[in-house]
Amino acid sequence: MEQLSVAVIGLQFGMAHIEGAMGCGAEIAAICDSNEEHLRFAGERYTIPEEKRFTDYRELLHRDDIDAAVIAVPDQQHRELSCAFLAAGKHVLCEKPMALTREDTEAMILAADASGRQMMVGQICRFTPAFEKAKELVDNGTLGDLYFLESEYAHDYMKIVDNWRADPLRHGVIGGGCHAVDLLRWLGGDPQEVFAYGTKRLLPQVPYDDATVAVLKFDDKTMGKVFVSTGCKRDYTMRTVLYGTKGTLICDNTSPTMTLFTVGDDDMAHEPEIIPVEVNNHNAVREFESFAAAIREGQPVLTDAREGAKTVEVCRSIIESAASGKPVRPDYTF
Ligand SMILES: NC(=O)c1ccc[n+]([C@@H]2O[C@H](COP(=O)([O-])OP(=O)(O)OC[C@H]3O[C@@H](n4cnc5c(N)ncnc54)[C@H](O)[C@@H]3O)[C@@H](O)[C@H]2O)c1
Repeated sequence: MEQLSVAVIGLQFGMAHIEGAMGCGAEIAAICDSNEEHLRFAGERYTIPEEKRFTDYRELLHRDDIDAAVIAVPDQQHRELSCAFLAAGKHVLCEKPMALTREDTEAMILAADASGRQMMVGQICRFTPAFEKAKELVDNGTLGDLYFLESEYAHDYMKIVDNWRADPLRHGVIGGGCHAVDLLRWLGGDPQEVFAYGTKRLLPQVPYDDATVAVLKFDDKTMGKVFVSTGCKRDYTMRTVLYGTKGTLICDNTSPTMTLFTVGDDDMAHEPEIIPVEVNNHNAVREFESFAAAIREGQPVLTDAREGAKTVEVCRSIIESAASGKPVRPDYTF
């Protein structure tokens, strides 16, 4: 396949995907939004001709000139659109969270398996430069064995929650918290048990907790913590700290530096290292590049349907634990 030909559906955050695809040299074969104003705005912004603009995604399903679809519509519709494009033989890059229910993630896994096409879930934090560097420092042993990992998703939703985000199924722990959960799964593996508390203080528009803290048990030697606040009074961040037997790393997705503490063989502390890092918390170009490379080379995508589903499963377990007051063991049997 010389040049990947892509349709982008849903044109608010979806515009980042137009830029991501264009930034990798892909061809934008079609854009689609059911809202004509959003469609016109994106079409003009990216100079996409009228004949490539659509309001109904079903018109795109059987077009031979489309190899892949990027699904950036509200979460409740991820299953419908992803399954439709997969069944039509297209590769799919679906926004996070993959879906809001176990029934939907299971249906999407079946559709991906049956299609023989690539299905990637857009867990974009795996392409955030600071977190890519953190992954490198974990994998190359700089931090030693991790014994505690913490991350948070702190983002004030006060002005953006009065829509499909207020659906009780679209709890903040799934909607935004999936970023922090997925990051810890990527760095530390699958937690075997979670326990959580939640509170509702800041977002009167939603029927669910707007702050949740969860402790995670990865294995007998490794613990974790996730904090999600969707009403917080501060700038957006995913402050993340990784504690290992040989070092500690403090980083987030919105700071130009990260701090690395290490010790020598004699266990004496080195001077803390301040590592400069590019700030790019929505690295859609790298995400699309990774999706396109997997298609081109026939290699697995970084976050396939099962990876996306496991992250949703941990989020759902956290919500269940906060509601029941009991520890919950995520079920990874997909
Ligand atoms: N990766 C990230 O960091 C990130 C950031 C923001 C949003 N998102 C995800 O992206 C998705 C979209 O979020 P958003 O903030 O752009 O939402 P939004 O509500 O601002 O925009 C959704 C767009 O999709 C359109 N749309 C809805 N149903 C459609 C359909 N059936 N066919 C065509 N168009 C349709 C709407 O008209 C709207 O323009 C969500 O899944 C969200 O979770 C991810």
